[in-house]
Amino acid sequence: MQPRIKIAASILAANPMRLEEEIKTIEMAGVDLIHIDVMDGHFVPNITMGPFIVEGIKRITKIPLDIHLMIEHPERYVKTFAEAAGKGDLITFHIETTKKPKELISLIKDAGLKAGVSLNPDTPTESVENLLDAVDMVLVMSVNPGFAGQKFISRVLPKIARLRSLAPDELDIEVDGGITAENISQPVREGANVIVAASAIFKINDPCGAIKTLKQKAEQAIWEEYHSAAKPHQIPLRTGDEGGCKKVNIR
Ligand code: DX5
Ligand code: ZN
Repeated sequence: MQPRIKIAASILAANPMRLEEEIKTIEMAGVDLIHIDVMDGHFVPNITMGPFIVEGIKRITKIPLDIHLMIEHPERYVKTFAEAAGKGDLITFHIETTKKPKELISLIKDAGLKAGVSLNPDTPTESVENLLDAVDMVLVMSVNPGFAGQKFISRVLPKIARLRSLAPDELDIEVDGGITAENISQPVREGANVIVAASAIFKINDPCGAIKTLKQKAEQAIWEEYHSAAKPHQIPLRTGDEGGCKKVNIR
């Protein structure tokens, strides 16, 4: 049984000139996490956001932050990101970037944050299996990290299933890359419960509605999995209507 479904909106595809409006809009939809993609131009071929952005976002929202470090030498930057974020927020590093993951996890937790570990599509689950008791979340990449808008790589699905079968009950398993309303049920059925989406939220006209749809589809997939005899239209959904979607204008 996986923990409850959470939608993490990746602001990588948000309009950077209207970030505050975009964040207020996804807040209205009841988004669970704000996913911040930190890229250094070394570990991935793109450069994005740093602690300064994290600090700014922290000033305008209470939604927990999900900081995805796609950087080399993460141990050098954890403290700065932890200070910019807040207690209870989450920092995830990539297993490919460190030989001392346990020390890195302690560094993050000692700063009062939750710790996550991520693995690329070609990295085997064995690389993180000994960490499942030590982390709060495992992030399975379903695209090669670097850019929003890529296609979902379905061969990572068995990795999600394996990690869910080994994980303690409360462990969050996050999937990131290429998720849409059409394919979200696939990783959820394998055991993912934290779903990242950038393009599927911010590249359409109605980000608030998109979040609600993603959550409904994910919860429906879980219900179908557990009540496979029931017909989808008979399955009561647990969320969907709380909060309203209306246009947000900051200025
Ligand atoms: C990719 C990032 C993802 C990305 C997802 O390297 O880690 O979080 O923003 O974007 P979509 O949802 O558009 O694939
Ligand atoms: Zn990400």
